[in-house]
Amino acid sequence: MCGIVGYIGKREAAPLILESLRKLEYRGYDSAGIAVLDDGRVTIRRCEGKLNNLETLLNRQPVSGAVGIGHTRWATHGRPSETNAHPHRAGDVVVVHNGIIENYLELKEQLSKRGTQFSSETDTEIVAHLVSEKIERGMDFLEAVRRTLREIRGSYALLFLNRRDPRRLIVAKNSTPIVIGWGEGETFIASDIPALLDYTRKVTFLEDGELGEVTLGSYRLFDARGKIVHRPVKEITWDAVAAQKGGFAHFMLKEIHDQPRALADTFRGRISLKDGQVSLEDIHLKAREVKQIQRIHLVACGTAWHACLVGKFMLEEIAGIPAEVDYGSEFRYRSPLMDPKSILLMVSQSGETADTLAATEIARAKKAKILSICNVIDSSIPRKSHGVLYTHAGPEISVASTKAFTTQLTALYLLAVALGRLNGKLKQAGARKLLRDLMHLPHWIEETLKIESEVKELARELMHYGDFLYLGRGVNYPIALEGALKLKEISYIHAEGYPAGEMKHGPIALIDETMPVVVLAPRDRYFEKTMGNLKEVEARGGKVIVLTDDAKSGGAILAHRVLTLPKACHYLTPIVMTIPLQLLAYYIAVQRGTDVDQPRNLAKSVTVE
Ligand code: AGP
Repeated sequence: MCGIVGYIGKREAAPLILESLRKLEYRGYDSAGIAVLDDGRVTIRRCEGKLNNLETLLNRQPVSGAVGIGHTRWATHGRPSETNAHPHRAGDVVVVHNGIIENYLELKEQLSKRGTQFSSETDTEIVAHLVSEKIERGMDFLEAVRRTLREIRGSYALLFLNRRDPRRLIVAKNSTPIVIGWGEGETFIASDIPALLDYTRKVTFLEDGELGEVTLGSYRLFDARGKIVHRPVKEITWDAVAAQKGGFAHFMLKEIHDQPRALADTFRGRISLKDGQVSLEDIHLKAREVKQIQRIHLVACGTAWHACLVGKFMLEEIAGIPAEVDYGSEFRYRSPLMDPKSILLMVSQSGETADTLAATEIARAKKAKILSICNVIDSSIPRKSHGVLYTHAGPEISVASTKAFTTQLTALYLLAVALGRLNGKLKQAGARKLLRDLMHLPHWIEETLKIESEVKELARELMHYGDFLYLGRGVNYPIALEGALKLKEISYIHAEGYPAGEMKHGPIALIDETMPVVVLAPRDRYFEKTMGNLKEVEARGGKVIVLTDDAKSGGAILAHRVLTLPKACHYLTPIVMTIPLQLLAYYIAVQRGTDVDQPRNLAKSVTVE
């Protein structure tokens, strides 16, 4: 996620903006910039890399002015570079943006036809041009922004300044946070509370669809219809560290709750419901090439490997392409049967996992096509790939992977639909159904998160057990593995994931009253069989916790606890089932007092073998 900061007051804006951006560094970024306005002149300083680079640049080439905007960029469209760094300028208009403009390509085409020249690869620059051309036609600054917001679709927190209008900053919000901070005779704007706490604790949060006109010490807020909105000023009581976690106790919990936004941002701008098509801008595959693909080798580690196990079902059943899954640490020492008709698909949050990265050498030697799904733009794995599908989860701070995992599943789903359409195995009607289901996903996850208090109470009951078993079938078996890994890595309790059908081949010997068994039992084609496994466990005194998506059957299930979840479509049920398992692991770890965000012995990215 990018970081936005704005200032209008009596002090020099640049040092204040720089310090505020430092308080947003926890969000992760790869470039930064600042624009200040002084006596009708706009000066912009931008650079790739960290804020120290920007500070050095400002020391070398100072700027002056009491009105300014600043930005730290977490790249989504366009590589990290000075030209892609924000702020972006068009004419007298300067803008910084956090979010994704879904329809930026069609807007860019329209602007090009009007003779607009572009200096960056970003979606944000389009917005500057759209506002600037309206002001050039004589429209008021605020009205020009309002009209532009009607043309763009997507998630945004936008902050504008106008060279010819030094008294005002204009701010707009849609599904990406932005907050106004009230100082003494000065006003601050930021993506998040931490950037404001050194100057004020009095804040006003904008709501979706709202547009704000901020002047020195006052503001007007308008809703999407242009009606004035009155919003109370709130007093923030958090300390700085709590503020970075958005008021959540840990980054992991914040990231669990960030999943509806992250999932929506991962498919935003990539699907056309009308045509039943998926456009993956950085995956360069033609229909002819896809028709020749004979096998996809999915390679990853840890949680990302679990995503690949689900991805195998999607790629084989939606796109009709044989797929096999391997740990990076195993693949690199095998002699996999690959050729130019093979695809290596690496999945990695960090893009730096050494065992996964090693797969590229093997694939390259066998002339296979190399694709990756990654959350960090321009990291090592995408750089070694022929094509990449970025998840837009935003930085994942907690070592335990949550939103990265569910956005990986979303990316695999998008890829399966795209490949199925390219090789003709998936017809338009089928694709439209799958994409309509995908559009429901953020809502399903919002609904699933509502069982948090129930899971928290269950965690209190289960925190003292020393061994857990997680059971699932088919497309949800990998989620049993993921639930077990989450518990292991943050609570240090031993846990195993197993295919439910395997119980009778060994694990059932483990079952007694000292072993909680978490059973994933959506009302799917395996349901009756899974109920049989559940009874086997019950008969041996096992404490059974069932996750199901059918309230009716939930009532009939005899178990220690039944958690009833929203009903999703088959291939997205794994994502719904994951949420309670993330929460269960989190609350058991909290109860046990472990270091949830930085568990012992673990690193966020394993860059060594
Ligand atoms: C998952 O919670 C762990 N943090 C770990 O298994 C992780 O998924 C694995 O190390 C792979 O990391 P990557 O996705 O960055 O490649």
